[in-house]
Amino acid sequence: MPREILFNAFAMNTAGHLSPGQWRNPRDRSGAYNRLRTWTDLAVTLERGLFDGLFIADVIGVYDVYGSGPAGALRNAAQLPINDPMMLVSAMAHVTQHLGFGVTANLTWTSPFLLARAFSTLDHLTEGRIGWNIVTGYLDSGARAHGLNGLIAHDDRYAMAEEYMEVCYKLWEGSWEDGAAVRDPATGVFADPARVHTIKHEGKHYRLDAIHSCEPSPQRTPLLYQAGTSAAGRGFAARHAECVFVSGPNAEVIQRRTQELRAAVAEAGRDPADLKVFSLLTVVVAGTHTEAEDRHAEALRYASPEGSLTLMAGWTGLDLSGYALDQEIRYIEKEGYRTMLENITRADPDRAWTVRDVAEHCAVGAIGPVVVGDAKGAADAVEDWMERTGVDGLNLAYAVLPETFEAIADHLVPELQRRGRYKDAYTSGTMRAKLYGRDRLQAPHPAAGFRAG
Ligand SMILES: Cc1cc2nc3c(=O)[nH]c(=O)nc-3n(C[C@H](O)[C@H](O)[C@H](O)COP(=O)(O)O)c2cc1C
Repeated sequence: MPREILFNAFAMNTAGHLSPGQWRNPRDRSGAYNRLRTWTDLAVTLERGLFDGLFIADVIGVYDVYGSGPAGALRNAAQLPINDPMMLVSAMAHVTQHLGFGVTANLTWTSPFLLARAFSTLDHLTEGRIGWNIVTGYLDSGARAHGLNGLIAHDDRYAMAEEYMEVCYKLWEGSWEDGAAVRDPATGVFADPARVHTIKHEGKHYRLDAIHSCEPSPQRTPLLYQAGTSAAGRGFAARHAECVFVSGPNAEVIQRRTQELRAAVAEAGRDPADLKVFSLLTVVVAGTHTEAEDRHAEALRYASPEGSLTLMAGWTGLDLSGYALDQEIRYIEKEGYRTMLENITRADPDRAWTVRDVAEHCAVGAIGPVVVGDAKGAADAVEDWMERTGVDGLNLAYAVLPETFEAIADHLVPELQRRGRYKDAYTSGTMRAKLYGRDRLQAPHPAAGFRAG
């Protein structure tokens, strides 16, 4: 019996996200990313479509690799301007009951103490519907914004992340014992000092001597997401991640990376079933096939090739403005986002990508495939993709916000439900309980080893 497919909507607190240029499309509301209503309406739509979560990407810094400056990003709204994703969550949680929120937060520029507090706060306010996409950054401009000359070396970032996680687990799991917040009016004691512990950490990168500010929240450690499948990235995911976002130039590469990840999880002593893998897909679905094709064609008319190349230059670290349009892109070891550079160079040995290919392929939905069709055609394509990749779920990018997600809720979801491939209702409980049937991380996950009491 094929499994139910998990759906995340994929967005960013910016115009266009992976489809630069759409802010000019009269049907698109992503240009109103700075209005709360855009997000609360979106959350309601997603919950109507029984989406498991809204996954919000984020980036620290600007895409200034293309043309050696920020002009391309500014002209094309290539993930600039961008607002803080965390600030959106409380309002969206207020208008929903079940939708989960996977929020990207870069650990390189925030202390573990502050990050742990922010996620605990959101875990309380969402009643356990918060996840953290753990990232370390890939833009030199983000490093320069924090007083460095450039990115910290690739593998060093992952080593720092390893220690950072340990500090966070100590705060989330080890500082407050269960029941420490006694809130006993009879004795006048809010929290029992004997059951709240000071965390002392002395490591290579971090030092801390503190009590976690927040009392225990429903999940304590947020649901942990990760993306990035270089060797170091895979090792990190194998130890920590509960959900991984895998990208690739085609289904076969994604399938291989998915299998490698599951094998790495098993090698780390964890059950591979404790990892859900998501891949990127854009679905343009409508009442009829012709209508869906028209919508897609319209989105392509508003696409911005320079915007797409600006994003790809930032991801890969290659200034594609200096390349001829028909020049092939080749792999060079860079400190940034190796998975993306792999995707358009050596991941698929049968395919050579030119700059023109990138501009055309990434016009809508970036490197991910685009499915266009009526309910039946789109559902067939989604089922085929699931079969060929072996992933558990999809991070669904939008062409036009919120139209892409409204159409998925109205057309694709009912068709997948009819086929037994999509839930008919939410189950109750936290984000982790919905995926794994438990609120908290369990041994052998390292977080469980830091539990107090
Ligand atoms: C599909 C995918 C989505 C990602 N989303 C983000 C993001 O929203 N913000 C971010 O800073 N990094 C993001 N990254 C970058 C990774 O977190 C990581 O820094 C990068 O992939 C470098 O690691 P790698 O060399 O292991 O790929 C993403 C990576 C992938 C593959």
